[in-house]
Amino acid sequence: MEIPVLKIADLSKSYGALKAVDNLSIEVQKGQVFGILGPNGSGKTTTLAILLDVVHADKGKFEWFGQEVDAQQRQKIGAILEEPIFYPYLSGLDNLQLTAQIKNTGYEKIPEVLNLVELYERRNDKFRTYSYGMRQRLAIAGALLGDPEVLILDEPTNGLDPQGIAEIRRLINKIASRGITIILASHLLDEVQKVCTHVAILQKGKKLASGSVEDVLQETKRVELAAQDMKHLKNGLEEMKEITNVREENHLLVASISGELSSETLNKMLFEKGITLSHLAVRKKSLESYFLDVLNQNENKNRN
Ligand SMILES: Nc1ncnc2c1ncn2[C@@H]1O[C@H](COP(=O)(O)OP(=O)(O)OP(=O)(O)O)[C@@H](O)[C@H]1O
Ligand SMILES: [Mg+2]
Repeated sequence: MEIPVLKIADLSKSYGALKAVDNLSIEVQKGQVFGILGPNGSGKTTTLAILLDVVHADKGKFEWFGQEVDAQQRQKIGAILEEPIFYPYLSGLDNLQLTAQIKNTGYEKIPEVLNLVELYERRNDKFRTYSYGMRQRLAIAGALLGDPEVLILDEPTNGLDPQGIAEIRRLINKIASRGITIILASHLLDEVQKVCTHVAILQKGKKLASGSVEDVLQETKRVELAAQDMKHLKNGLEEMKEITNVREENHLLVASISGELSSETLNKMLFEKGITLSHLAVRKKSLESYFLDVLNQNENKNRN
């Protein structure tokens, strides 16, 4: 097993009585586009701030590239946590040259990153004339100076119009395809679905679920079923250990399946119990409804 790019273990941070980050453990492997997904106030920015040594954790630890952070590790991490400071009356190019000086890297990479973020043509225009989307792309260009192995983005599409959002998402995919690991905080489900390979879902600083976006989806695969004798069907389903939840919905039964169980096998198993299905369809749950479910379950647990 390769050393993870990032390993967070039991990280906690409170502000007074408020637990902003609550015993959080996450691992990010090289090449992943890792989404930290959660509603407002769930601790995403605080987590990123801890990882970048802007905020100190009360408890727990994290390692970048298998070790505690030093200046050399730091060089391998590009980040945009807050709105980057660019000078409005300087051009995009001049601003990047300043960024390069601050980062202590040369200017040679500047044309490449400008091309990558599709601002090369506009490099000599003043920053103040840039759209919000262009500003964000320039910030990403700045973060990529110094050839980072990891790029950290906090809500990269906030405040952008649909076209700007699409451009940033395309850019993230492009950066990822170059092998750069990306860690991205977002409160937007479809953003995580569209650009991330892996996800950790946070609520009130706690991790509710994590895994590959695909697994998180599959984990809750559901099927809808019908048979002549619905009662018999319901009993049959409830006897099966792979079925975790059965409920009625519009004259159908909806069953949650845990683990690997194909619809063919399910059909066969039911047939062996003397049940012939008149309807069987797989309902792949969207991450969205999964997310809502997870949040609801958690609320209920807290209430009980
Ligand atoms: N400096 C601070 N002082 C006090 N409370 C803070 C501070 N920073 C964050 N918090 C609180 O910690 C919790 C987590 O905040 P955080 O900004 O990490 O959430 P977030 O998931 O990034 O939210 P958003 O989606 O709105 O960006 C919130 O309840 C917030 O009010
Ligand atoms: Mg935030």
